[in-house]
Amino acid sequence: MINVEKSYPVGPSRYWVLRRINLEIREGEFITIMGPSGAGKSTLLAILGMLDGEFKGEYYFLDTPIHKLSVKQRAEINKKYIGFVFQQYHLLDGLTVAENLDIPLSYRDIRASERQALVGDTLDRFHIVGKKDLFPSQLSGGQQQLVAVARAVIASPRLILADEPTGNLHSSQGKEIMDLFKKLNEEGTTIIQVTHNENWAAYGNRTIKLVDGWIS
Ligand SMILES: Nc1ncnc2c1ncn2[C@@H]1O[C@H](COP(=O)(O)OP(=O)(O)O)[C@@H](O)[C@H]1O
Ligand SMILES: [Mg+2]
Repeated sequence: MINVEKSYPVGPSRYWVLRRINLEIREGEFITIMGPSGAGKSTLLAILGMLDGEFKGEYYFLDTPIHKLSVKQRAEINKKYIGFVFQQYHLLDGLTVAENLDIPLSYRDIRASERQALVGDTLDRFHIVGKKDLFPSQLSGGQQQLVAVARAVIASPRLILADEPTGNLHSSQGKEIMDLFKKLNEEGTTIIQVTHNENWAAYGNRTIKLVDGWIS
C-alpha cells in the first residue's frame, strides 16, 4: 500500500479513517494489527481484502494494481486468493452450516464429490459435525464464529484476513484457532489478523499498530 487514505463525508468536511498508510507485506508473513476501537482496523482489512475499493492511494496485490480495478475484478481476486473472517461473521442466513462452508469451494474448480469430502473434513476439524444442517440463527455466537473461520480456511486461500476471529470463543477454542493459523502459516499461507489479545498477537511475526487511522 502506498499512501492509502480513506475518509467519509461529514457535513461540509470529511472524517478520516485511514491516513497515509504505507505498508509492505510479504507472502508468508503472519501480521497482527492492533489498536483501539475505532482506529480503522476493520476498514484497513476490508481494503486489503478487496471488499472496499473506495480509497485513495495505491494498493498492489501480487503486483496487480487493485486501485485501478472494477468492483467485479476485485471480487474475482477476493474469491481466488482470500479467505476472510468478518468481525460480525456474515454467514448466509438462508444456508445451512454445510452450505455456508461449500460457498468458497464453489468458486474453485473442484468436483462436487471432492467438495463434499472437504466440507466433511472441515466440519470434523472444527468439531461442528452435529451442526451441519442447522442455520446460522440456530447457533450461538461462538459457534457462528467457528463456522466463519472454517469458511475462511476451507478452500486453502493464499491470504487469510481475520478480524478478531476468536473474540467470541472460549480461550481453549481460541487457542485451537490460533494453532490452526500457525500451522497454515508454516505451510505458506499469509495471515493478517486483528486482535486485542496479547497472547494471540504473539503468534504473528510482526505487529502493526493503528491509532486514529495512522500507523504508529
Ligand atoms: N460507513 C461509515 N461512515 C462513516 N464512518 C464510518 C463508516 N464505517 C466506519 N466508520 C468510522 O470509521 C472509524 C474506523 O472504523 P473501524 O475500521 O470499524 O475501526 P476498528 O475496526 O479499528 O474498531 C470509526 O470511527 C467508524 O465510526
Ligand atoms: Mg473492527
